[in-house]
Formats: sequence, structure tokens, C-alpha cells
Amino acid sequence: MLEVRPDNMVRITTPELADAYIEERIKMLQDQVGDKKVLLALSGGVDSSVVAAMLIKAIGQQLVCVHVNHGLLRKGEPEQVIKVFGEELGANLIYVDATDRFLDKLAGVTDPEQKRKIIGGEFIEVFAEEARKLDGIEFLAQGTIWPDILESDAGIKAHHNAGGLPDDMNFELVEPVRILFKDEVRVVGKQLGLPDNMVYRQPFPGPGLGVRCPGAITRDRLEAVRESDAILREEFAKNGLEGKVWQYFTVVPDFKSTGVKDGKRTFDWPCIIRAINTTDVMEVTVEHLSDELIDHLVQRILTEVPGINRVLFDYTPKPPATVEYE
Ligand code: XMP
Repeated sequence: MLEVRPDNMVRITTPELADAYIEERIKMLQDQVGDKKVLLALSGGVDSSVVAAMLIKAIGQQLVCVHVNHGLLRKGEPEQVIKVFGEELGANLIYVDATDRFLDKLAGVTDPEQKRKIIGGEFIEVFAEEARKLDGIEFLAQGTIWPDILESDAGIKAHHNAGGLPDDMNFELVEPVRILFKDEVRVVGKQLGLPDNMVYRQPFPGPGLGVRCPGAITRDRLEAVRESDAILREEFAKNGLEGKVWQYFTVVPDFKSTGVKDGKRTFDWPCIIRAINTTDVMEVTVEHLSDELIDHLVQRILTEVPGINRVLFDYTPKPPATVEYE
């Protein structure tokens, strides 16, 4: 029987309520899993990170985490997963750097849906390959949360059940945050000792920076997206906007324009900054930045990111524009 959120469940808003939930879940996980092994695809996002931290508490080394780096992660993300889970929490962590494999498959592919399919399909393949190398795995942990179930019931979003693994891989599911809303997952994560920048992280799409490098992905343009994104995140954090603005990122489109630097002609990409607010992501408004911050961001990106000679701001709401470019 799949677990359902009880109608009368108290919203987890305090450390005490989170502690009680964690204690209850740890017992349930130990009962469910016994001395068997559990596999988890650990992306470093909020949900999978909280699931990992909870399972490490409950079953320790019986949890095997696989972190697949598809080469489209933000600057510092794979390093943080290794540091927090591998070193600090002592997780049984397998790190797979599949960057070349993904970027080779994506080379020359311009169609947005095709790119998404390749990234999703390759991810499952890499994860399944790792799973096949392991002996005695009986469970698959997933960071399913309650809104996933609600959206899937309402036909809004197909729920990726069992991570879309091949049919011959028969795992029983372990979903310790299934009945929680996102804000509750964050409170629980904080109580489990995860760092703030992991727990209060902004949403990040599965295909990662791939959808922010429109058209055919090249390594140099992808690097420009990654570096400009890192500068934007750093400046938002410094200016007290982290955790206040719902989502912010950069896009480097596949066209060049003329510029001038040190008296010489340049022909480089523009970098687009998008910062938005929303409650349900169906409708989105734009965050208006201060003139000082705009000037500072433009200056930093132009001097620090190779290949960029123009910085543009996307002030388009949704609708008509979607949040992401692909
Ligand atoms: P759009 O572009 O549809 O984005 O207005 C709405 C929100 O969804 C995020 N997004 C994704 N999240 N996998 C995800 O987990 C995806 O493939 C994906 N595509 C878009 C987007 O970042 C925004 O927050």
C-alpha cells in the first residue's frame, strides 16, 4: 500500500516537529529495510539530499549513493556532494564523472526536446550500469514528495516512478519524504544537519545547465554559462537575495555580436540574466534588481567570463515566456 499524507497531519514547521518526524521515520526505515541494501541516485538537490541524510542515520553503510555528474551541474555542486556526503556524513558514495559521455552524445544536437531526451535517457543508463555492478541491492530510495503525488494524480506532471529504470531491475521503493511538502523537507533537512545552501537551494532542472545553453551545447559556451551562473549566485548571496528570490540564473545563447575590447574588435556571446518570483511556477513575475547590482553584475561577468561581450536582462513574465529557455 502506497503511503498517503494523513488529512490531520500537522505541518512540520519547527525543529521539534522535524525531530519527531526523523525519529519516527528512522524506525520505519530500519523495519522496512532490515539488513538489506538500498540504492539512491543522489543529485545534490534538496529532496534526494534529505533522503540520503535520513537513510545514513537509519542504516549507515547499507545505503549506496550514486552521484552521476552529467557535466551540466552548477559550479561546485559535485564537489559539495562529495564533501558533505562522502567526507562529512561518511556515506557509501559512488561518484561517476560521466561528463564526456553526455557531452559527446549531445554534440551537434540542437532540438530542445531531443536534448532533454538524451540527457534523461543517458542518466538512467549510467545509473542502471552502476546498479548492475552492485550485489544484493533490494531497495531503491527516491526523493518523491507530496506535491509530486498530487500533480501526478491531477495529470499535470508524469511522476517518474522508480526513476524509469529498466524493467529487469526490480527494486522495492523507499520514500521517506513522500508525505512531506517542500517547506517541510527543508525543515527536516536542516535538522539532519545539511548545510543551508543545500537545504534552501533554488529549483534546478534535471537537464541542468543544458537548457541554459540553447541549441547545440559546446564545452566553451557551457563553461560561460557555469561561470556566469556562479557569479550571479555569489552576488545574490552577498546582497541578501539568496532564499528571497525564487529562481535566478544565466543563459548564454548561441549567437555572437560585435564588440570592442582594448581597442580591438571582439565577436562574442551575450549573457542573459533571468531572476524571477512565483508561488506555483504557472505564473511568474520578474525580480527588479537595483541599479548598483545590475552595474556590478555586468562588470564582473564582462571581466571574468571568457567569451562574453554583452550582458542582457530578461524582464519577461510567464506567460508568455517560460522560466527556462528550452
Ligand atoms: P518552465 O521553463 O516550464 O519552468 O516555466 C518551470 C520550473 O520548472 C523547472 N524545470 C524543471 N525542473 N526538471 C525539473 O526538475 C525539468 O526538466 C525542468 N524543466 C524546467 C524550471 O527551472 C522552473 O523552476
